[in-house]
Amino acid sequence: MEERIPRISTIGVLTSGGDAPGMNAAIRGVVRAASYYGIKVYGIRRGYHGLWRGDFVELGSRNVSDIMQRGGTFLMTARSKTFATPEGVRQGVAMARVFKLDAVVPIGGDGTFRGARDLADQGLPVIGIPGTIDNDIGCSEYTIGYDTAMNTAMEAIDKLRDTAFSHERCSVIEVMGRHAGYIALNVGIAVGAEVILVPEIERDVESHVVNKILEGRNRGKKHYIVIVAEGAGDAMDIAHRIEARTGLEARATILGHLQRGGSPTERDRLTASVMGVKAVQCLREGRINRLMAVRQGEVTDLDLYEAMDMKKTITREEFEIAEILAT
Ligand code: F6P
Repeated sequence: MEERIPRISTIGVLTSGGDAPGMNAAIRGVVRAASYYGIKVYGIRRGYHGLWRGDFVELGSRNVSDIMQRGGTFLMTARSKTFATPEGVRQGVAMARVFKLDAVVPIGGDGTFRGARDLADQGLPVIGIPGTIDNDIGCSEYTIGYDTAMNTAMEAIDKLRDTAFSHERCSVIEVMGRHAGYIALNVGIAVGAEVILVPEIERDVESHVVNKILEGRNRGKKHYIVIVAEGAGDAMDIAHRIEARTGLEARATILGHLQRGGSPTERDRLTASVMGVKAVQCLREGRINRLMAVRQGEVTDLDLYEAMDMKKTITREEFEIAEILAT
């Protein structure tokens, strides 16, 4: 007997957690695809906060014109404390029923996907789209926003190198990534950093960072770039310790939220657009409770529960490449 695919008539789309450049392109992809297939879409404002409060706005194709090139998320985002409780999830599902949602497409990082799983557990179908500058979603080689954030950080650090060179100083730069060092490692390689610190690989400041700088000095280096991921140390403290131990002048810069803004790169616009369309196609084909992911360079969808158990981390081999390049 032929399997009946439940008809999807109305969906919701939301962005949650830290914003990421490209989220607007993902929303646009979802809205345009839904409109193409005759599905009604509600934009849910302020993430899961807007879901349980009923902060919904109907979106058609024209409402998502001219947003692709903008950073941030025009639906706004939040980290909802209420939604993190079982009562909040129940209220969210109840509100989805009021608006007759057949499914929700949450765009965000790991916290967003935990929220998505809570909805799926309560019987509300979801399709998650990975959007975070941290690139730390285990099931996906790539997350929307990472490329833009890396380019933003790289351009800022190139500027810091100019002044570090002129003053023969050490520039210690803190980049985002509380639990993941992908930005630090790959931007560090791209700017030719002397030292990179990531949360995944423990390194002692005194023995590792100071020694690297002293070794560099013996090889004739006069200025240095040290990149530290937010979760791997404090840039101010590291700069003080470098100065105290080496006598070299050191300055600290925290790039902070600068890295989350700006117009998305081609890679982020493209990935987000494709994921947005494929998320809607998944629903139409009856595949629910999935996460969109990049696997072997291709956009695909995976079972939500299995995907959330997948892990990825920076390997020692990847880290070694950065160390070889810094010699
Ligand atoms: O998840 C993205 C991220 O930018 C992390 O790199 C960072 O640790 C965190 O969000 C900062 O969050 P907030 O904007 O709440 O300070």
